[in-house]
Amino acid sequence: MRMHRKSNLDERLYACRDILTVSDLSDKNMQRSAQIKEYIDFEKIFKNNNPIRLEIGCGKGKFVCETAEQNPDINFVACEKISNVLIDALELAKEKGLKNVYFLNCAAEVLSKYFNTESVEKIYLNFSNPLPKEGYKKQRLTHPKFLEIYRGILTLHGQIIQKTDDKSFYLFSLESYKQSGYKILSTCEDLKNNPVKGDVETEHEKLFKSQGKAIYRIVAEVE
Ligand SMILES: C[S@@+](CC[C@H](N)C(=O)[O-])C[C@H]1O[C@@H](n2cnc3c(N)ncnc32)[C@H](O)[C@@H]1O
Repeated sequence: MRMHRKSNLDERLYACRDILTVSDLSDKNMQRSAQIKEYIDFEKIFKNNNPIRLEIGCGKGKFVCETAEQNPDINFVACEKISNVLIDALELAKEKGLKNVYFLNCAAEVLSKYFNTESVEKIYLNFSNPLPKEGYKKQRLTHPKFLEIYRGILTLHGQIIQKTDDKSFYLFSLESYKQSGYKILSTCEDLKNNPVKGDVETEHEKLFKSQGKAIYRIVAEVE
């Protein structure tokens, strides 16, 4: 289903330029693009050197904004490839007056262009598209191809915290972490009845819970 382009999108994105970096999304050769480094000086942006956590595929930004609100001493960066969706996250962060959130309008494939090695302590993957068809396997955000990119920017013992409603994707991800040399620290197959303190519910999570779906969670660590 094609999404309706939001009104005045370009003007609204421009109004948020102090909390946003936009990638050149027209460059289809993402591997090449990732190699051309444009490291972002997060110390300069946040005016401190607090630890950085990254959400990949942040959607409308409920998770990152509420988590940032609860953790003022941690800096959050959220990446989302669709600007039409990201605008809601940007405007929510502005509305809340958050000083510890920054956004990247880019694809996960090019994250190493912007982040230096060992610069991110946690990565959140919240309800990433499960892409069940075999032909799309390599685009799943927990495919070994992506886990290699994340390894390149995570700190020693850095973590990936993943939530999904899709059991097949959960099982695929578990295998993928193990295959890529990540240690599984914890798993949960029913987050609704085993809530984690401080964990914020995302937009999709709210919807899936209301549909009675089980929520799976994995915490994996770089070894
Ligand atoms: C199902 S939504 C989940 C949104 C939000 N995290 C939540 O839990 O409500 C997945 C989001 O990931 C984004 N996404 C998918 N593949 C991506 C990629 N390769 N790089 C960046 N964002 C991506 C999509 O545009 C979409 O907004």
